[in-house]
Amino acid sequence: MRSEAPAAPTPSAAEIERAVARLKEGGLVAFPTETVYGLGADARNPAAVSRIFAKKDRPRNHPLIVHLAGPSGLGYWAESVPQVAERLIAEYWPGPLTLVLGRRADVPLEVTGGQDTVALRCPAHPVARLLLAGFEQGQPGAGLAAPSANRFGRISPTTAAHVREEFGESVMILDGGPAEVGIESTILDLSRLDSVGPVLLRPGAISLDEIACCLGAAVGHASEHAHGPRVSGGLLAHYAPRARLRLVAAGDLARASADVAVWSYSLPQKQAHPAWLAAPHDPLGYARELYAVLRQFDAARTAEIWLEAPPKGPAWEAIWDRLERAVAGSGQG
Ligand code: TXA
Ligand code: MG
Repeated sequence: MRSEAPAAPTPSAAEIERAVARLKEGGLVAFPTETVYGLGADARNPAAVSRIFAKKDRPRNHPLIVHLAGPSGLGYWAESVPQVAERLIAEYWPGPLTLVLGRRADVPLEVTGGQDTVALRCPAHPVARLLLAGFEQGQPGAGLAAPSANRFGRISPTTAAHVREEFGESVMILDGGPAEVGIESTILDLSRLDSVGPVLLRPGAISLDEIACCLGAAVGHASEHAHGPRVSGGLLAHYAPRARLRLVAAGDLARASADVAVWSYSLPQKQAHPAWLAAPHDPLGYARELYAVLRQFDAARTAEIWLEAPPKGPAWEAIWDRLERAVAGSGQG
């Protein structure tokens, strides 16, 4: 899918400037990141942040990630930056790693969902970086609160066209081409280091093993720490297509009738089947295509989608996390 895509479009400097102006006025702008597209607003402006929740129909107690131009903005949001955070930032920022830290007292409640922590990330996509740098100019530490640019509970967008499917022309969209990673960032909680150590809240492109290796220490899993912060992606029914989604074994694929859409991991195109696509074999390629394929099948008004179960293992953990949530939430029209 991506290999056939043309070179990523780059918004002009004038377009970036318009987006920055809109954000400074308290408006919303959808922008590309390397994971998925985000719906951004000035994170210091509570009225602007409220517009995100209204636009997405998202419950207001679900906290947002603040996107920064670079690590120098951290001190404006986090109460303190522990050494482990510094180590991870040196290794992975800019990139698909979100860190949850104790917040400064002046971080708006609207951003944190009323919690005493704040999630921070520095995205790597060149368009996001231009936008964030432009937005920070003249207002040091300024950041953009940005959830994935989809209506609550739906599949995250990995292209500008997906964002348009969600919100039509009602939101300004910067088009930076298809997202390279394709699933949301890894979220790591570093706000409870003294009691429980680092805890993975959401698996993503950067794996638990990589983080543990960088820190030289074990990393816990949210499932072991039931009283941790809320994670909306932690709701079981999330990232859901409208069609009923089923994970099936390779041996069952032959039973797929013509009105079932199939994403097969191991079997080549079944000639007679009208909606049969082959999935990439590597986890990076699989993650990059997953949401676009679900959207494509959904758009075709398929009643059922069968995904052949991909392999298990550390490199597939984030993918399995999204697959299981998508199955749980699917089929609700
Ligand atoms: O890759 C990504 O992270 C994308 C792009 C746009 O950056 N953003 C994204 O945002 O996935 P969203 O809102 O769809 O998911 C953010 C997740 C939610 O599960 C939320 O609960 C969690 O981050 N989160 C935000 N602030 C938090 C906090 N203070 N403590 C714990 N979890 C937090
Ligand atoms: Mg989301």
